[in-house]
Amino acid sequence: MSDAVLRDLQQSADTSRRKFLVGVTTTLGAVGAVGIATPFVSSWNPSAKAKAAGAPVKVDISKILPGEQIRAEWRGKPVFVLRRTPEMLEAIKATKGVVADPNSEQPQQPAYAANEARAINAEIAVLVGICTHLGCSPQFRPEVGAPDLGDDWQGGYFCPCHGSKFDLAGRVYKAVPAPTNLLVPPHSYESDNVLIIGVDEETA
Ligand code: FES
Repeated sequence: MSDAVLRDLQQSADTSRRKFLVGVTTTLGAVGAVGIATPFVSSWNPSAKAKAAGAPVKVDISKILPGEQIRAEWRGKPVFVLRRTPEMLEAIKATKGVVADPNSEQPQQPAYAANEARAINAEIAVLVGICTHLGCSPQFRPEVGAPDLGDDWQGGYFCPCHGSKFDLAGRVYKAVPAPTNLLVPPHSYESDNVLIIGVDEETA
């Protein structure tokens, strides 16, 4: 093979290698740019799922019978919605002497729920269903005088983890591990039958 032919072959190989390297660099550059840009985009735009998780929740309370409770979910937490009977409202009066914060002085509820029933509408209790001790979910125990809860039990919530007791307004009993009443979430009413959890009465 002549020198001229060898030189041509060498030049052609160099050109191909250069083209290949330019291609690789361009592709990596594009991947790098996407990789860098993505975290910014996701921090600017919370996903629809994230927005939904923090959004207010509407609850149709028309089907809740007197004495019955349903469980809603707001911000990933259980929320108890109980339609209290007149007897249950009387029971709240009866527990005044045995609960630790009968007048809701601790900031465990919005101002509009700092009353005896801890609610806007006394008939409807709205309580975050998480024990204020270490976060277990208390059980709804409406039976007055339940044998395992004592003769003076007026109905309420019992936490099976360490034995905390709450009355039917979510007020914590004295001398139990839980330090405060159950939380009342911000709530309001769109109509007589539609409760909105997560929106304050004033805002609504
Ligand atoms: S978590 Fe409820 S009593 Fe401890």
